[in-house]
Amino acid sequence: MGNPQIEQAWEYHNRTKHSYESIRRGARSLDWDNQPLPFKIYRDLPPISLPPPAGRSAGEPPGLKQLAHLLHFSAGITRRRRDEILFRAAACTGALYEIELYLVCGPLADLPAGLYHFDPRDMALRRLRDGDFRGLVVAATAGEHSVVHAPALVISTGTYWRNAWKYQARTYRHFGWDNGTILANLLGVAEALGLPATLVCGFADTQINHLLGLDTGREVSLSLVSVGHAESPAPPAPHEIPSLHLRTVPLSKREVDYPAMQQMHAASSLSTPEEVAAWRGPLQSPVRQEAAPLPEPIEQVIQHRGSTRHFEREPISYAQLSTILEYAARPIPADFLTPAGALLNDLYLIVNAVDGLEPGAYFYRAADRALEPLKHGDFRSRATYLALGQDLAGDAAVAVFFLSDLNLWLARFGNRGYRAVQLEAGILGGRVYLAAYAQHLGATGLTFYDDDVVQFFSPHAAGKSAIFLMAGGHPAPPHS
Ligand SMILES: Cc1cc2nc3c(=O)[nH]c(=O)nc-3n(C[C@H](O)[C@H](O)[C@H](O)COP(=O)(O)O)c2cc1C
Repeated sequence: MGNPQIEQAWEYHNRTKHSYESIRRGARSLDWDNQPLPFKIYRDLPPISLPPPAGRSAGEPPGLKQLAHLLHFSAGITRRRRDEILFRAAACTGALYEIELYLVCGPLADLPAGLYHFDPRDMALRRLRDGDFRGLVVAATAGEHSVVHAPALVISTGTYWRNAWKYQARTYRHFGWDNGTILANLLGVAEALGLPATLVCGFADTQINHLLGLDTGREVSLSLVSVGHAESPAPPAPHEIPSLHLRTVPLSKREVDYPAMQQMHAASSLSTPEEVAAWRGPLQSPVRQEAAPLPEPIEQVIQHRGSTRHFEREPISYAQLSTILEYAARPIPADFLTPAGALLNDLYLIVNAVDGLEPGAYFYRAADRALEPLKHGDFRSRATYLALGQDLAGDAAVAVFFLSDLNLWLARFGNRGYRAVQLEAGILGGRVYLAAYAQHLGATGLTFYDDDVVQFFSPHAAGKSAIFLMAGGHPAPPHS
C-alpha cells in the first residue's frame, strides 16, 4: 500500500463525500460530555513566554519577536467569547483546533537551537528537544533548497480525535483545510515581515514524526514551512535521536478511532528521502509571492477576522470581488506547485449579487484574471442547497467553490497529491477570508454536497471533484 496506489485516495474521497442522503443517514448527536480539549498541554515542561504581539520588526535571521508575531497571527488566540470558546487567528471547522504548530530552529540571537511546541493558550513555547535538528529535516525533505537554508521551520500536525469527535472520518479532509487557513496567515505574515517562506509537503513522514515525538495513531505531521534564509546551510543531521516520552493532558475521557483516516494517511506517506526526491521531481526556480497586498495591514485583518454567521443580501462591487479572487489565486510558494503560479484547485463561482456582473455561474481563469460565464440566472436557492442547505451560501454576494482535477493530480503526485489538493484549497480559502475582511466584508468556509456541486458546474467541471467552498459578502449585524 504505497503512495502510487491511488485507489486509496479515491476510496477515502468517495467514502467521505456528503450527499443529501448521507447527511440524513448519518445524523447523530454529539457527546458533549466527551468533547476534546482544544489544546495540547505538556504536563511537565516549563513555558518560555513569547513577547506579546507588537508592531512588525524586520530581521534576518528571525528572532523570538518575529517568530512570536508569526505564530500569534497564524494560530494564536485573537478573540474570547463569553461561553469560553477561545477563537484563533485562522478559521477552523467546528472551532475544534486540531492543528498544532512546532518550531525547529538553529541557534537564534535570543532562542537556543531546539525543537519547540507552540501553545496559544499561554502564548508560550515549550522546549521538547535541545540542539539543532534542522539537518534532520533537511534529510527528511531530501535537501529541499529552502529547508537547507532556513534558520527556522514551522511544522504543522493534525490530531485526529480533536476534530473527529464531531466530523468522524471526514477529519482527514479537514486537516488540509484547517492547516491551510493557518498557512494562508503564516505565509502572508512572513511576507509582511520580509521573511522568505516556502511550504514543503514532500518529507519522509516517519522521520519528522519521530523528531516531534508524535504518537502517530493520534497525531501526524502534515506540512512544514521554511522561514527565513541564511547563506550557511543547516548542520548535518544527528545520527540517532532518542524517542520522546513527554506526558500530555488527555483530550477526552475516551477517544474513538476512524481507521479510514489512518489508512489514508499511511497510503499518502513517503518513507525515504529517495522517495521524497522522486516525488518532488526536478528542482524548479523558487516561487516568490507576487505583490498583491491587502488593502489593510494583515495583522489588523487577522485581528478582526471571524466567520460571518449571516449575510445581508447586498451586492459587493466588482472591484471587491476582483481583489478577493486575485489575492486568493496568487502563487503559493510550495514545493508541489511548479511552474510558478500553478494551482491544483480551480475556482468556480455562483455570483448572487455583484455590481456590474450578471448573476450566474462563472469559472475564474486565474492566468488571465478573467471570469468566464457558464450560465446566467438566479442561483441563490441552489447555492443554499449545495452548501448543505445553509442560507449563508444563498445570502452571500458570492460563493466560491474550489474544484480539482483529482485524476490529474493523483496521477502526478500519488496519494500525497490528495493531501496537497486539500491543503491548497485551505490556503485559498484562508486567503478569501483575508481579502474579504481587508475590505470590511465578511466570509465563511462552508461544507457542501460533493457530486451535486460538480454536476452544477458541468459540463465545464465534468470529471473534477469538489474540494472546498467559501462564501463572501456583507455581514448582517448579529441577531438580525
Ligand atoms: C474549512 C472550514 C469549513 C467550515 N464550514 C462551516 C460550515 O459548514 N458552516 C458554518 O456555519 N461555518 C463553517 N465554518 C466556520 C467555522 O465554524 C469557524 O471558522 C469556527 O467556528 C471558528 O470561528 P471563526 O472563524 O469566527 O474564528 C468553516 C470553517 C472552515 C475553516
